[in-house]
Amino acid sequence: MLQEKIQQYSEEIERFVPQSYNDVEAFRLKFLVAKGVVRTLFEEFKSVSPDQKRSLGKVLNEFKQAAEQKYQHLHEQFASNKQTSKKKAEADLTLPGEGFVFGSRHPLSLVRKEIVEIFKKLGFIVAEGPEIEDDWHNFTALNFPPEHPARDMQDTFFIKKQQGNDIALRTHTSSVQVRMMENGEPPFRAIMPGRVYRNEAISARAHCFFHQVEGLYVDKDVSFADLKQTLYYFVQELFGEDTKVRFRPSYFPFTEPSAEMDISCTICKGKGCAMCKGTGWVEILGCGMVDPNVLENCGIDSAIYSGFAFGMGIERITNLKYEIRDLRLFSENDVRFLSQFETELI
Ligand code: PHE
Repeated sequence: MLQEKIQQYSEEIERFVPQSYNDVEAFRLKFLVAKGVVRTLFEEFKSVSPDQKRSLGKVLNEFKQAAEQKYQHLHEQFASNKQTSKKKAEADLTLPGEGFVFGSRHPLSLVRKEIVEIFKKLGFIVAEGPEIEDDWHNFTALNFPPEHPARDMQDTFFIKKQQGNDIALRTHTSSVQVRMMENGEPPFRAIMPGRVYRNEAISARAHCFFHQVEGLYVDKDVSFADLKQTLYYFVQELFGEDTKVRFRPSYFPFTEPSAEMDISCTICKGKGCAMCKGTGWVEILGCGMVDPNVLENCGIDSAIYSGFAFGMGIERITNLKYEIRDLRLFSENDVRFLSQFETELI
C-alpha cells in the first residue's frame, strides 16, 4: 500500500511542470507543509511491519529528497520573475492599457503663460530678478521718497535694516526693471513675471504674497500712444475683441503721467455684478511713462530716451478669467481646486 503510494507520488513529482509561480506554490502546499503528502507518508510509515520498514525507509527518504529538491529548483527558477510570470498568467491582453495620471498646471501658471505669450508676439522678452531685494532697487531708484508709506514695516517685509540700503522681500517686480536698465543699453522691451510680497493680513481679497507681470519699454520716441496701443492689444488678445478699455489718471512715484487701466467687466459684460461691484468696470493694471528721474537713476539719458511701464497682478486676471473669488485658494494646494484646471502636456 505505502509502497504504491510512494511510487504514484514519485511519478507525479517527476511529471510536474508548473506554468507559473502559483503552481510552484501549489506544489509546496501539496507535498511539503505540515499536513502535506511527505509528512503523511511518514506517519503511515510508522505503522508498517518491521521487516518492510528497512526497504521502505530508504524509498521514502529518497521520495522526500526528490520532492524537496524539485521544489527548491522550481522556486529558484520562478521566484526571480515571480511578478512578471504572475502578470503574464493573469493579463487579459484585450484590455486597454492603463493610462498615465497627469497633473495640471496651476491656474496662476496657466494665466502667466498666456500673458507671456501675448507680449512675446510684440517682441517683449522675459526678465527675472531676485525676490530678496535691497532698498535701492525696490524703492530709491524708482523715485520713492524716503518717507513713502511703502517703506513702512506695516507694508513691507524687511529682512535686514542696514545703513542706507535695507534688505526686504520685493514688493513689486519693478525692481527687475531697474536691474535691467542698470545692466544694459536701451532699447529695452521686456516683461517681468514673478512673486512679490506685501505685509497684509490674509483674507479672501488680500494675501501676503501674490504674483505680478510688469512690463518696460524704453527707446527713442516712445509715447503714451504706444503704451495705450500695447495694452489695448494685450486686453483684446487675453479677454476677447469686445472688451473695452479705459484709463484713469493715477499716481506712482516711478511714472509720470500715471494711469490705472480698467476693462469692461468680463463676467457681466459691463452690466454690473459682484465682481465689478456693480460698476461694469474692473481695474487690472497700473501704468505710465517712466519718470525721467528713474531713467537717470539707472544711467539712461532721459533727454534721448523715453519709455513706458506697466504692472498687473496675475491673481486679479486669473480671478476674472475663471471667476475665482477667494485669493487663498491659490496657495492652499487643494487638489479639488487645482484639478479643475485643464492639463497641458508642454
Ligand atoms: N509697480 C506697481 C505696483 O506694484 C505697478 C506699476 C508698474 C505701475 C509700472 C505703473 C507702472 O503696484
